[in-house]
Amino acid sequence: MGEQKVIEEIEEAMKSKTSMVFAINGERFELELSSLDPSTTLIDFLRNKTPFKSVKLGCGEGGCGACVVLLSKYDPLLEKVDDFTVSSCLTLLCSIDGCSITTSEGLGNSRAGFHAVHERIAGFHATQCGFCTPGMSVSMFSALLNADKSHPPPHNGFSNLTAAEAEKAVSGNLCRCTGYRPLVDACKSFSADVDIEDLGYNSFCKKGEQNRAEVLKTLPCYDHATSQVCKFPEFLKEEIKNGMVLDPRKYRWSSPVSVSELQGLLSEAENGMAVKLVAGNTSTGYYKEEKQRTYERFFDVRRIPELAVVRRDEKGVELGAAVTISKAIEVLRGEENVSMLEKLADHMEKIANRFVRNTGTVGGNIMMAQRKQFPSDLTTILVAARATVKIMSSGSGQEEFTFHD
Ligand SMILES: Cc1cc2nc3c(=O)[nH]c(=O)nc-3n(C[C@H](O)[C@H](O)[C@H](O)COP(=O)(O)OP(=O)(O)OC[C@H]3O[C@@H](n4cnc5c(N)ncnc54)[C@H](O)[C@@H]3O)c2cc1C
Ligand code: FES
Ligand code: FES
Repeated sequence: MGEQKVIEEIEEAMKSKTSMVFAINGERFELELSSLDPSTTLIDFLRNKTPFKSVKLGCGEGGCGACVVLLSKYDPLLEKVDDFTVSSCLTLLCSIDGCSITTSEGLGNSRAGFHAVHERIAGFHATQCGFCTPGMSVSMFSALLNADKSHPPPHNGFSNLTAAEAEKAVSGNLCRCTGYRPLVDACKSFSADVDIEDLGYNSFCKKGEQNRAEVLKTLPCYDHATSQVCKFPEFLKEEIKNGMVLDPRKYRWSSPVSVSELQGLLSEAENGMAVKLVAGNTSTGYYKEEKQRTYERFFDVRRIPELAVVRRDEKGVELGAAVTISKAIEVLRGEENVSMLEKLADHMEKIANRFVRNTGTVGGNIMMAQRKQFPSDLTTILVAARATVKIMSSGSGQEEFTFHD
């Protein structure tokens, strides 16, 4: 089917859509949009309306990782699934329409059997009170999944994840009681290039039994190829192909699919209505008072193609406002022989943590700096790079500014 036809079918289907559909650990959920409060977070829903209570509310600010879940998005045009970690305390429930969520229970549990990640965390003595463990497990799993999905892992029970990458897999996930050495060892034990002698005390092998082949036999089995964990549900793929975008005008939560549609919604709402533009919603981690504010309408900007654009030409790289910081890092790293872009990517990797960067957008960060004097690292490096920003407004069209100090 041609790309244009798929888009037309989705647009047609969106006109009659009254509910949102998503999956949690493979289970289908359908919620009527008219009965939803758009300020509901994913963690509120998980803990209050589902049996999946492994997610914990620690900080509620995107800073501890106790609430981390895996979010999987299916692209029907590219037939591709993106899997990345998000903090469920900052993710709004309405924003997961059409997505599949995996919590620690979805990786494995006492009834279905635990995942190798769980077993290795236990065997490396990397858990005590257990409060952080579900989030840690999901972050580790996500690192393994992403390392092994594009290139098949070596057939020896190890992963493509390098030991250096494994050390970063749980960065941003805080543990107040165990210490990070055992956690990192549990994750590094999956790496094909791990130095077995480097791994700390564990219940799988005694010191001295450091023969690689012998140790591998004792470790809980990791087999990415045959694992059914976290497969994007087929029923959801079908429903997405049949139209998943919300009717932009009917509900308090709207997902416009073009700039002109967003401008239409904004102009309709102008007379005193409390309206919020939302991208990743991570700014509510920094401005906690935002969670208490009541908005009549929420406009999600992430489905607008112009704002998701990534363009490269001889002048440089152009990123849409709704591009996530993680995506921006990937794009900048992908530019060959441009060391300045590589340096920008290095700095951007120091922003927040992986699960905030996975949903937090470039535009959201700039708006925080511009509107609320947020001490943004992103705008600081954009000043150094003499980047330009294009601003669209309903009245005056488009303006262009260069960042300067
Ligand atoms: C724990 C934590 C640590 C952080 N650490 C750092 C750090 O070290 N350095 C740093 O620089 N930043 C840091 N941040 C900030 C983070 O980068 C921003 O929260 C994120 O980039 C905001 O993007 P968002 O998509 O989530 O924005 P949202 O929260 O969705 O929106 C932020 C604001 O921008 C508006 N907005 C969003 N998109 C648009 C648009 N396209 N057009 C107009 N208005 C828009 C929204 O209405 C809102 O007012 C941190 C945040 C957290 C939660
Ligand atoms: S509860 Fe701490 S990151 Fe969500
Ligand atoms: S085991 Fe207690 S917080 Fe990590």
